[in-house]
Amino acid sequence: MKRGAWDLLVGVTATASALWAPADLVLGLPRARLPVEAALSAVFLADLAVRARERRGWALLPDLLAALPLGPFLRPLSLLRAAKLLRVSDLLRRWREDEVRRTAVLRLAGFVYWFVLLTHGVACGWIALGGDTAGGSRYVGGLYWSVTTLCTVGYGDLTPKNDPQRLYACFAMLLGVGAYGFVIGNIASILANIDPVRASHLQRMEQIGAFLSYRGIPPPLQSRIAGYYRYLWQHRLEEDEGEILGRLPPGLRTEVALFLKRDLVQGVPLFRGASEAFFREIALEMRPAVYLPGDEIVRAGDRGEEMFFISHGAVEVVAPDGGKVVARLGPGQFFGEVALLHDRPRNATVRAAEYTDLYRLERALFHRVLEHHPAIAAEIRARAQERL
Ligand code: CMP
Repeated sequence: MKRGAWDLLVGVTATASALWAPADLVLGLPRARLPVEAALSAVFLADLAVRARERRGWALLPDLLAALPLGPFLRPLSLLRAAKLLRVSDLLRRWREDEVRRTAVLRLAGFVYWFVLLTHGVACGWIALGGDTAGGSRYVGGLYWSVTTLCTVGYGDLTPKNDPQRLYACFAMLLGVGAYGFVIGNIASILANIDPVRASHLQRMEQIGAFLSYRGIPPPLQSRIAGYYRYLWQHRLEEDEGEILGRLPPGLRTEVALFLKRDLVQGVPLFRGASEAFFREIALEMRPAVYLPGDEIVRAGDRGEEMFFISHGAVEVVAPDGGKVVARLGPGQFFGEVALLHDRPRNATVRAAEYTDLYRLERALFHRVLEHHPAIAAEIRARAQERL
């Protein structure tokens, strides 16, 4: 059996035994007792064997105590099975660490899990002490007392009648206040962190807003800045691709970059049919950039240091004299190659017609591509010739 599946089985069995043992003790569920005890012991003994490979000595004691079938001899000893919950706590922690996404939800589920077990245990204790359950089912009555006490609601309809019960109620209330405070505090922080990207976006927007009004930036410029951040937020969640990729080791970085840029690179007719080696060579090196409507991306007469591939949006090519739009280019098309190829100033101005995502290919890499990939070079040369 695979390790994950086994862990899951052990976790479920440990939970079942933690629910079953106290309930059996106070309510007496004798019909199935022996088979259930045998099944629990079988699973826990097998798990003990698995664990013995990883741990030694005292660390195995809780697993051993939980595995021994002591209940049939002396029933309170079946409570020792609860020691297996240490293993569950271990597993939950491991799962949380392994899971990069949904960590907040997993933490929340963990609290609910422990709270359910706690409520159940406290309810069984109340029943064991003969606490008032006001007719009806004893278990449901006990559970009701346990929940109202632990959640610090305390309706007061079920009250302790003797000293042991009063002491137990004190204990449950203290436990309840602690657990309740802990859970509420944590839930607040979990909810606040459930969407960290949005939280950091809002925080950034507040900082920017404060800066803009402090420095008296004119309203039209302010609204362009706001529009830019809105666009970033909608399209790439403000995560700077370069920054995140930069934190990865080289092999992983190439794979992620390939994945992110594959759509773009494959959307460029020029690159269709290019080799895998070509993808690897250029995908990592293409840098993303965002332009706002009206932004000049290249200006006629400037020296060119890079060419551009359009990922989203559209650009207008404007003739250097007279400002006439001579072409509109969209996703998958490229521009800025003429200056690099012929080593001459930009022959037109190109500006963003809408919010536009581009990938930049710098001069050195451009020449490398031309050198190593003759088919692509021929295509770029032909296109540049037309545009000249
Ligand atoms: P470059 O001269 O480097 O910078 C301006 C770019 O505009 C140019 O490269 C071409 O890629 C592009 N360009 C120029 N003229 C045209 C045109 N008529 N149609 C499409 N694109 C053009």
